[in-house]
Amino acid sequence: MEKIVIEGGAPLKGAVRVSGAKNAALPVIAACFLAQGTHRLKNVPHLKDVQTIKTIMSGMGVGFSEENGVLSVDTAEVSGYFAPYGLVKTMRASILLLGPLLARLGRAKISLPGGCAIGARPINLHLRALAAMGVDMFLDRGYINATVDRLKGAKIFFDIPTVTGTENILMAAVRAEGTTILENAAKEPEIVDLADFLRAMGAHIEGDGTDTIVVEGVKELSPAPEHSIIPDRIEAGTLMIAAAITKGSVSIEGCRPEHLAAVIEKLHSAGATVREMQNGLVVQGQDPIISVDIETMPFPGFPTDLQAQFMALMCIAKGSSVIRETVFENRFIHVSELRRMGAEIRIRGNQALVVGKERLLPAPVMATDLRASASLVLAGLVAEGGRTEVNRIYHLDRGYEALEKKFQALGASIWREKI
Ligand code: EPU
Repeated sequence: MEKIVIEGGAPLKGAVRVSGAKNAALPVIAACFLAQGTHRLKNVPHLKDVQTIKTIMSGMGVGFSEENGVLSVDTAEVSGYFAPYGLVKTMRASILLLGPLLARLGRAKISLPGGCAIGARPINLHLRALAAMGVDMFLDRGYINATVDRLKGAKIFFDIPTVTGTENILMAAVRAEGTTILENAAKEPEIVDLADFLRAMGAHIEGDGTDTIVVEGVKELSPAPEHSIIPDRIEAGTLMIAAAITKGSVSIEGCRPEHLAAVIEKLHSAGATVREMQNGLVVQGQDPIISVDIETMPFPGFPTDLQAQFMALMCIAKGSSVIRETVFENRFIHVSELRRMGAEIRIRGNQALVVGKERLLPAPVMATDLRASASLVLAGLVAEGGRTEVNRIYHLDRGYEALEKKFQALGASIWREKI
């Protein structure tokens, strides 16, 4: 076990490069099932979650190798269709294998993901859509057993725009017989990246990035020449908030401002200066930080995956801010840890009232999920006068590539220690 230790107080300064997006890499790797052969992926981040999907797919006969920054995924032979509980319980996104396996083999046995620290996170919408496409499913000892002769196109309406649900059905639809129309689809940039990858394989998809996606199924797909995963907008947003909270000045290279409009707007309102440069953004923090309200929303709204980090910023802002979480029902677990660092936060239902304080205090704290961990690291970067220790950082390693090294390079006093 490891922990991250931070001696806060230094304004971050310099340039940092954003890694590839976890939430784009996972569906793209799963989509490799859809065409027999070797796929070449660039900009795949080195993360625990990526390792988990590779381990599950290796168990199904898929070969992985990496050379000169290119991940080769060999799906010529697929010998299995089983995703075990032991791995799925560490990463819910394993459910992304359901659509591609059904399209490739006509069957899948995948552990039903259980509860999650941030909410119940059911997958009923994935399953309902697959049933409409002709899939037979039953639940046995915690596993979804799914079979289909040939997937059939269908008109799907999602009650809620679900990101992995949209991706799962998109991957099933590209090889289904006939047309699939996905209505009230999610519009996240990761969906557009997946659609770009699928199109490069020969799929017929229109409307990705809007709430209606139309897919004309094809019989066969072939591996794309090469695909580069989009930069991680959540990592970029975390680095932007880090610049603002430490009142530093950081160039965030390789990020796409068009994926970050809501975050840029809120940082502006909080007093920071955000400028676009040729290959990313420069964020300059200002004193004082000004309180602003946020409400999380599906893309292009303010992302739930940055709510905890923005809350850390509001903890030392001038005034009070209301933070409303509308995507997940239990995404305030970081609040009690931030309180241990002197934050004043009151929660009522899905709203948190953050009363800004002059400073945060160093303390030992515990990470409870991926983005909560990042929020505690940000709080640690400004907590002066001692050591902040963030425990259970395996959550952080699921979704941030060498975050402490990136902060070190920007001048922070932060390191990893074995427990
Ligand atoms: N929902 C249902 N039924 C479903 C599917 C979703 O009720 O069948 C509900 C969820 O409970 C939630 C809402 O719909 O209230 C939206 O959830 P969504 O399905 O969009 O979330 P997800 O696909 O499970 C992805 C990201 C999350 C990110 C959310 C929201 C991946 C692998 N995960 O999850 O990322 O928070 O979209 O943007 O793409 C993270 O990276 O830390 C993370 C949690």
